[in-house]
Amino acid sequence: MNDCLPEQTYIWQFLEEKIKKVLDSYCYKEIRFPIVEKTALFTRSIGEVTDIVEKEMYTFEDRNGESLSLRPEGTAGCVRACIENGLLHNQQQKLWYKGQMFRYEKPQKGRYRQFNQIGIETYGIADADADAEVILLSADFWRTIGLTDVELQINSLGDEQSRAKYREVLVEYFRNSYELLDEDSKRRLEKNPLRILDSKNPEMADLVKNAPNLLEYLDEESERHFQRVQEYLNAAGISYVVNPRLVRGLDYYNRTVFEWVTTKLGAQGTVCAGGRYDGLVEQIGGRATPAVGFAIGVERIIALLEVCGVEISSKLPNVYIVSLGDKGQEQAFSVSSILRNEIDGITIMQNSGGGSFKSQFKKADKSGAGIALVIGEDEVEKGIVGLKYLREKREQETVSVSEIVSRMRELI
Ligand code: HAM
Repeated sequence: MNDCLPEQTYIWQFLEEKIKKVLDSYCYKEIRFPIVEKTALFTRSIGEVTDIVEKEMYTFEDRNGESLSLRPEGTAGCVRACIENGLLHNQQQKLWYKGQMFRYEKPQKGRYRQFNQIGIETYGIADADADAEVILLSADFWRTIGLTDVELQINSLGDEQSRAKYREVLVEYFRNSYELLDEDSKRRLEKNPLRILDSKNPEMADLVKNAPNLLEYLDEESERHFQRVQEYLNAAGISYVVNPRLVRGLDYYNRTVFEWVTTKLGAQGTVCAGGRYDGLVEQIGGRATPAVGFAIGVERIIALLEVCGVEISSKLPNVYIVSLGDKGQEQAFSVSSILRNEIDGITIMQNSGGGSFKSQFKKADKSGAGIALVIGEDEVEKGIVGLKYLREKREQETVSVSEIVSRMRELI
């Protein structure tokens, strides 16, 4: 679990602001739901035989003996909140959220126990255009923040029946090579065999590579749906790779699944992942409602921005106010509050804790401000403010207090 220090927060804010703009442009609305939910919500939706539920949840009993867990992801909580608040009945919803998620994973680069996701979920649209829209929206994220090193992989898991059929074939295939399976896969064979396809064990790579192809078992409707998603993506000019081994680590998906991956972050290369989950709302107790969404891993995107050399500069103060003497310090408060009230968005760093002119100017330079306003006893007496340019070579000026607002408006 990491601290996010001031020299990093501006990068987070940059990312969040840009992403919020894209979300606004698609008319998605923000939803906020708790970090803690009943454990059963996650076990039922994510799946009993998944890494998350089996070994990664932060689970505890509250004082009443109820089992609660820190959310390991946002989809389950979002669905629960929508059902409880009646957002899904006869309605379409396009929602987004951001926040901390918690998984007791082995920490390594790009994999943390507390991490941040920005997720979107749409409800009430079964058509492939919803799948295409969420994928397009994610592509717009990358464009807006200047990321180019990500590849879109897509797959279709089909419907329940076609997946059941595929499951049988797959179990049969793996059973025939039982001795080649690692312990994890042996355990998964009966309960969650599709996840074996996701194995990262190099010793099983050949076995997985030669496994039957999921796409050959798709039902007609899912095949058409997947075809349509691809046609929309083609029409929008989004490149992608169909990866029939992409199965995802959570159980609630059906039909379209997708991941945005990069080779630049080592083992944790998936920066965004999601898909369709038409059965989940009903499974959690709502009326059957089609749904599709994704979540991005914010830490991974930030790491990728860094690796790709995307320059993000922090916002520097417009003004540093240097003041001397009791009267000067009092006037500094008056001038800064006038400027803050009158000029929307102005950023002012007022010297705190006194100090000589020299030491205050040192601090002003260090702050990166463009302008220093200087207020000493002399200036107070004359009703003026000294104005010094800190980053360009320009003559120092004096401005009367009554004109400081209009002069500053011209300058920033
Ligand atoms: P997920 O694949 O488990 O899906 O997580 C989505 C993204 O969160 C990952 O691709 C990764 O970037 C990031 N992530 C996951 N675990 C960690 C970690 N331990 N440290 C850092 N980043 C991590 C979901 O969570 C689904 N709820 C996505 C979704 C939304 N599907 C439909 N709607």
